[in-house]
Amino acid sequence: MKRFLTVLLATGCLLVAGHGIWQQVPAPLPDTWSPVEVALIKSLSLSQLPPLPADPGNAFGDDEEAAALGQQLYFDTRLSGNGNISCASCHRPDLMFTDGLPLAVGSGSGTRHTPSLVGLSYSPWFYWDGRKDSQWSQALAPIEAPHEHNIDRLSVARLVTEEQPYKETYEAIFGPAPVLPKEGIASPLGREAFIAGWNKLDKDQRTAINRVFANVGKAIAAYQRKLQPGPTRFDNYADAIGEGDDRTGNGQLDAAELAGLDLFLNKGQCVNCHNGPLFTNNDFHNTGVMVLAGQLPPMGRYDGIRIARQDPFNCLGDYSDAPNGECTELEFARDTNELVGAHKTPTLRNVSWTAPYMHGGQLGSLEDVIRHYNEAPVSMLSHNEAKPLSLRSVEQRQLVAFLKTLSAPLATPGKWLTPP
Ligand code: HEC
Ligand code: HEC
Repeated sequence: MKRFLTVLLATGCLLVAGHGIWQQVPAPLPDTWSPVEVALIKSLSLSQLPPLPADPGNAFGDDEEAAALGQQLYFDTRLSGNGNISCASCHRPDLMFTDGLPLAVGSGSGTRHTPSLVGLSYSPWFYWDGRKDSQWSQALAPIEAPHEHNIDRLSVARLVTEEQPYKETYEAIFGPAPVLPKEGIASPLGREAFIAGWNKLDKDQRTAINRVFANVGKAIAAYQRKLQPGPTRFDNYADAIGEGDDRTGNGQLDAAELAGLDLFLNKGQCVNCHNGPLFTNNDFHNTGVMVLAGQLPPMGRYDGIRIARQDPFNCLGDYSDAPNGECTELEFARDTNELVGAHKTPTLRNVSWTAPYMHGGQLGSLEDVIRHYNEAPVSMLSHNEAKPLSLRSVEQRQLVAFLKTLSAPLATPGKWLTPP
């Protein structure tokens, strides 16, 4: 407590000396958290994260062999049109499965920022606009996207059923592989040449290719389910404090970080959306992030839910393993005009290692993010759910200090973090 007060006073004095404005001195914090605050802080701890729920659409989601196969596919650049791109090109293990770029670059330039994959398997929706309702179905999209892997479905199906190291493993997991056309490229999506090839196939051939393709997604998803966050200094703190204790806990957090936590819970209202052990409500919100130059204002989740409903690889589709009645997220998803321009709340775990930020990489640093929330600009297309905060500059620095306590090495064993 004494150290905390000294730091607080020193910070205050420095600011007063530096700026000559008394308003810069933050009000001293009370000595203890209220019972409600203690409960809230504990609810954010990683120790409160429940076991990963099964994905009803993916019968292989928790199969170890499927995860090992998925790991090989995840790092395999043969899964691309030019032989240079894998999932790991953009979701890099050394950058918490992001790429450090504002906008992703694969076979071409993308229009969205690459999100982290850590802890993502808990999310019911994928992509910034939630246009995919499962991680296995999501994995299929970048493979055919012209600016990402840019390879066709038939070539991928041939690779995994006919080439090494996949052939035997594929059949051991998913059963006998179908006989596929020996030649040609074919896919209903992506480049014109892919689509032309697809139009020449009959229904049974298309179904057989789709089934292998879906299994590729299921294996890659099984791999991604291994990518789990590790305990941070914040978690140690949250687990140590109890009702009536002073705020210092076990000394895991310093005075600025504690003040930042207070702001996160109270004045900043961050916890309204960034809540639970992964610091996300897995929902979609408008936060007034500026539209990227040269782009139309994004429709966000408003379009995302429509695309998810029409996706042949969704939870209700022919390639899903979900029994009747298990696709409740898709069937009962919120669908209102409020969702125009809304994006998925990202996790804040490891956030200090995943710059830049937001769906278009619009904000370069955590300082920029806090400045954005402080001003709460109104977005071009719709409202901003976050309201201006009137944070003093010292408070903005404290919030950043707190966000930096949320990073730690993954809980995932090292063998999953490199090409097999
Ligand atoms: C060219 C870079 C690039 C490649 C290659 C790539 N991704 Fe992504 N990934 C992105 C971007 C950008 C987004 C966000 C796109 C959006 O929301 O519209 C994304 C989104 C995702 C998401 C959803 C994240 C979330 O928060 O909901 C998952 C899961 C994912 N990718 C996994 C994969 C897998 C698996 C592969 C390989 C099959 C892959 N990605 C290949 C750039 C890439
Ligand atoms: C109304 C819900 C809501 C509130 C309140 C909110 N956020 Fe967010 N946050 C989001 C959404 C949604 C995004 C993604 C927005 C986008 O990309 O368009 C986001 C993005 C972020 C990011 C970028 C993460 C990344 O990986 O790109 C950070 C950091 C962040 N928020 C921190 C905060 C802090 C700190 C506060 C409190 C001052 C806060 N948020 C309040 C919903 C919210």
